[in-house]
Formats: sequence, structure tokens, C-alpha cells
Amino acid sequence: MLTAIEIQKIINQKIEAIFYPTVPADLYQPIRYVLSLSGKRLRPTLALMACNLFSDEVEPAIEAALGVEIFHNFTLVHDDIMDNADKRRCQLTVHRKWSDNVAILSGDTMQIQAYQHLAQVPAMLLPKILQRFSQTAVEVCEGQQLDMDFEKKTEVTQEEYLEMIRLKTAVLLAASLQIGAWIGGATDQEAQLLYEFGSSLGLAFQLQDDLLDVYGDSETFGKNIGGDIVSNKKTFLLISAMNMATGTLKDTLFHWLNADSQQPQDKIQAVTEIYNRLGIKILCERQIASFHARAFAALDALSLPESRKATLIDYTSSLMQRQT
Ligand code: IPE
Ligand code: IPE
Ligand code: MG
Ligand code: MG
Ligand code: MG
Repeated sequence: MLTAIEIQKIINQKIEAIFYPTVPADLYQPIRYVLSLSGKRLRPTLALMACNLFSDEVEPAIEAALGVEIFHNFTLVHDDIMDNADKRRCQLTVHRKWSDNVAILSGDTMQIQAYQHLAQVPAMLLPKILQRFSQTAVEVCEGQQLDMDFEKKTEVTQEEYLEMIRLKTAVLLAASLQIGAWIGGATDQEAQLLYEFGSSLGLAFQLQDDLLDVYGDSETFGKNIGGDIVSNKKTFLLISAMNMATGTLKDTLFHWLNADSQQPQDKIQAVTEIYNRLGIKILCERQIASFHARAFAALDALSLPESRKATLIDYTSSLMQRQT
């Protein structure tokens, strides 16, 4: 079996080897740019690890792995326009380095390229993999729209938040694992357990992303800190604070939610201070641990030798401590 490092080496080599025409430069350069930045390569790693659970041969899953990574990068390019973000993977976002129009069209192209890679999976599996991938792609858009809708909504429950992050983030991790497993020769039942594993893992992953957006270090995380606070993203942290704050703390929180963001740093500092007073960080960490536990329960139900699952378990456990 391959280690996480070996898998990521394969993925990075394949990404580097992708050919792009030179013109129009403003279509292809942003694609090459965003894909060359040092992402974690989480989704293709999961796809190849899932394949490797069932087969010693990961080669047949490489095109699918590239497809999910390119699709993910497309979502980031458009997400950064939607979230008005300046920084991604420690560098300027595509829409800041070029323009919104360039980011839209390069993103659109990446989405199509993702399908071109996906279409190269073993022919017998193509119908069900395309079906799963297309459903996932639509769900990510649904999640992204809910995320934007919630910025403007005051009453968002934790259940609504969890469903939103399931759609925008968890389903792509889940589908990457399921598709990889199918290519490795898993039964539908086995692949379903990996989907469930990925779904809970994805919830933990987005909760951690939301936590790092407040408590991370910008240099390590690669994105500006506090963007979620500035745009009133209804994260687990903000919803918990809105539910728990009373008296003047509550007044202050709602003052900042309604303030126009002329002074983003003041708002970030003030809201973070409220989170600190309410102990929101630890609450969020517990929630993350609980989704990790749920994920591993799905993996427990998969009847493969523990030694076979060890690489996936080690790799995904380490995500809980991630700062990037
Ligand atoms: C960022 O994804 C978007 C989320 C779903 C939180 P990653 O944290 O996997 O980003 P990269 O690919 O490593 O940059
Ligand atoms: C984005 O969530 C999830 C996507 C589907 C792109 P975020 O907006 O929190 O991701 P980051 O923090 O910008 O990476
Ligand atoms: Mg977003
Ligand atoms: Mg964003
Ligand atoms: Mg985020």
C-alpha cells in the first residue's frame, strides 16, 4: 500500500504534467496558477487511499482523483469572488491577481476539465461515477448559495448550518472516497460506508476551517483571518455565540452584526473577544472531535483488516490537528 506522502507525490506530478494551451493567456494562466499553489490535495488523496483499501493498483483512480481536485479548485476560485477574499494558499486570489471576469471564466473552464478527467474512469463504472459526481457538484452549489443566503439571515439554526456545510464541503470529500472505493473494486455497500465516513469527516473539516478562520495564523492557514466575521457568516461559532450571549455581550454582538464593515479589524477583534468570553473555541473543538468519532465509526463498520485501514486512519486523524 502507498503512504500519504507517496500518494501526494503522484498527485502533484500528475497536476504538474497537465498541458495547457498558451492562448488565451488570461484563461489558462490562472488555472495553472491556482493548481500550482500548495493545497493539501485532500480530496484526491482520499480518492486514492479509498481505492488502495481494495486494490494494490491505484493507477485506475488517478484520473478521478485529478477530476475531484480540479473541481475543488474551481469552487475555490469562484468562492473567493463570492467571499471577497484576497488571499488563498498564501498568495493572491485569482480574482485579485487578474479580475472577477477572468476568475469566472477560468473557473468555468476548470469545471469542464474536471469532467474531462472524470470521464476517463474505467468504462464499466462511468455511469454511476458520473451520476455521483454530478449530484455532488450540484449539491456544492446548493451549499454555496445557502452559505451566502445565511449571511443576510439572523435566525440560522445549528441544524441548518450543518446541512449547509454538508452540501458545500462534506459531499465532495464523501464522493471522492466513494468513487475511489468503486474504482478499487469495492461493493456498493463498502463504498457507501466510505461515503458516510467522508460525510462526517467533511463536517469536521469545515468546522475546523471555520475555527481556523478566527483562531488560525494567517501565514500558516494561507488565508486572511476574520473574513467569516466580517461577512457575518453563520458559522457554528457565530450561531453558538448568538444563542449563548446575554445582556450587554448580546447587545455588543448584535451591534457588530449590524455595523457596516468600515473597520473590519475592529469588528474581528470585538467578535473574537465575545467568542473568547463565551468559550466558543472549546465548544467548536468538541463538535469537531464528535464528528471525527462519527466518521471513524463508519470506518469501523467496514470489514477490512485494520492494517489495511491504517494509512487512511492516520492521515485523516492528523487532519484534526491541522493548522493549514
Ligand atoms: C478549502 O479547502 C475550502 C473548504 C472546503 C474549507 P481546503 O482546506 O481543502 O483547501 P486546499 O485545497 O488545501 O487549499
Ligand atoms: C468554501 O467554504 C467551501 C467551498 C465549497 C469552496 P469557505 O468559504 O469557508 O472556504 P475558504 O475558507 O474560503 O477556503
Ligand atoms: Mg465561502
Ligand atoms: Mg471562502
Ligand atoms: Mg473558510
